[in-house]
Amino acid sequence: MLIELSHIQRLYRSDEVETTALHDIDLQIEASDFVSIMGPSGCGKSTLLNILGTIDRPTAGSYRFGEHELTALNEAALARFRREHLGYVFQSFNLIDELTIEENIELALVYRNMPKGERRTRVAHAMDRVGIAHRGRHYPSQLSGGQQQRAAIARAIVGEPRLILADEPTGNLDTENGAQVMDILQRLNDEGATIIMVTHSPSHADLARRRIDMLDGQVVISVRNAI
Ligand SMILES: Nc1ncnc2c1ncn2[C@@H]1O[C@H](COP(=O)(O)OP(=O)(O)O)[C@@H](O)[C@H]1O
Ligand SMILES: [Mg+2]
Repeated sequence: MLIELSHIQRLYRSDEVETTALHDIDLQIEASDFVSIMGPSGCGKSTLLNILGTIDRPTAGSYRFGEHELTALNEAALARFRREHLGYVFQSFNLIDELTIEENIELALVYRNMPKGERRTRVAHAMDRVGIAHRGRHYPSQLSGGQQQRAAIARAIVGEPRLILADEPTGNLDTENGAQVMDILQRLNDEGATIIMVTHSPSHADLARRRIDMLDGQVVISVRNAI
């Protein structure tokens, strides 16, 4: 098992109100699985993805990732864990406007102590895998939304992470570009990548190997898709 969440809870407290964003989540995810997460707005999908991505911490419960118990790690250790093992794809691409596509992708490797030549080779390979090899010297604003999202996927995979987390990766794309992004995610998964994706699209959710439905901070349905 790559991931084991046990009794994960996430409370938000302010002076007046307490919101339970996640309520006692138990979830196991195998290596090389492709899991989609669906559910109405406000049910806790992004909170769950942020906890899986260690961007947010649960207020109770345990998160095991391979041999690591992540709730026991301090911020510096978590930051190292994220750089080495996780790749992120966001709805709004989150590329840095002032950097070229190549530079954006390479940024994911600069903390790795890797020689420049190897970084360049890896960046070129990642761009090739998502079909934007000829766009390296462009700036994000010179690319279409679909190309920007493919660049963001290249940035997510360039470090060969053990887990790719995607929060509505097709949410800002038209049908055709959304389908291209789904093709890429499916291909990466076929090659062994573990992927967890939040989506509002039932047809995209059905392209994953496994589907989870959330409601009010809980996992209510977990099924294997027939693919
Ligand atoms: N920073 C925050 N402070 C207080 N409440 C929050 C915060 N982030 C999310 N919530 C609440 O937690 C619940 C789940 O939110 P979220 O995970 O963003 O849902 P989803 O991604 O499914 O739309 C919602 O009720 C939301 O209002
Ligand atoms: Mg959300």
